[in-house]
Amino acid sequence: MKGILTAVVLVGCVGAACAGDEYSILYKCMNGDVTFNHKNHQRVLDDCKKCHDGVPGTIPAFDRPAAHTLCKGCHERMGAPSRCIECHIRANTTPAL
Ligand code: HEC
Ligand code: HEC
Ligand code: HEC
Repeated sequence: MKGILTAVVLVGCVGAACAGDEYSILYKCMNGDVTFNHKNHQRVLDDCKKCHDGVPGTIPAFDRPAAHTLCKGCHERMGAPSRCIECHIRANTTPAL
């Protein structure tokens, strides 16, 4: 499933190093949509290479297994939100963060 860029606001960026600094990506999922806050992750993790091999940008073949390996894998290692409903938010539920 293709992610949808919800807010592309590249403020104050000079050069490719800060490309993608400010946006969230919405992944539409049948079991509740997932919002990935790219900016927050960059700030907390402070290393593009934790998610991007080589040149930062789209991640090849980013699908369900890849997302779960990357997103859930790191969350479990770092004690970040790892329950299904902490990533998959149904419109009628409150995020249990
Ligand atoms: C850390 C975040 C995270 C957690 C925790 C997580 N998921 Fe996901 N999941 C994602 C992302 C991101 C995608 C979207 C991948 C894509 O579409 O490219 C996804 C996709 C899916 C899909 C495919 C949905 C569709 O419409 O194609 C299913 C089903 C799914 N997850 C089930 C689960 C279940 C069940 C759990 C708990 C055991 C879970 N996920 C936990 C992030 C997460
Ligand atoms: C926690 C993981 C993570 C970190 C850390 C991270 N990114 Fe990303 N980035 C992603 C994901 C996931 C996508 C969307 C991939 C997709 O859907 O194909 C993305 C997409 C991008 C894109 C493409 C946006 C577009 O327009 O398509 C750029 C550019 C980017 N990241 C730059 C960076 C830079 C620069 C850094 C470091 C300062 C960084 N990223 C750190 C996960 C991360
Ligand atoms: C390399 C580690 C790492 C990866 C990869 C990662 N995360 Fe996270 N994520 C974290 C950490 C650490 C936090 C807690 C951040 C905080 O406390 O502000 C977090 C927090 C979150 C949150 C809750 C807070 C927020 O920013 O909205 C969501 C939702 C989330 N991540 C989704 C994702 C999704 C979806 C992916 C994959 C596209 C992903 N994460 C990949 C480390 C990671």
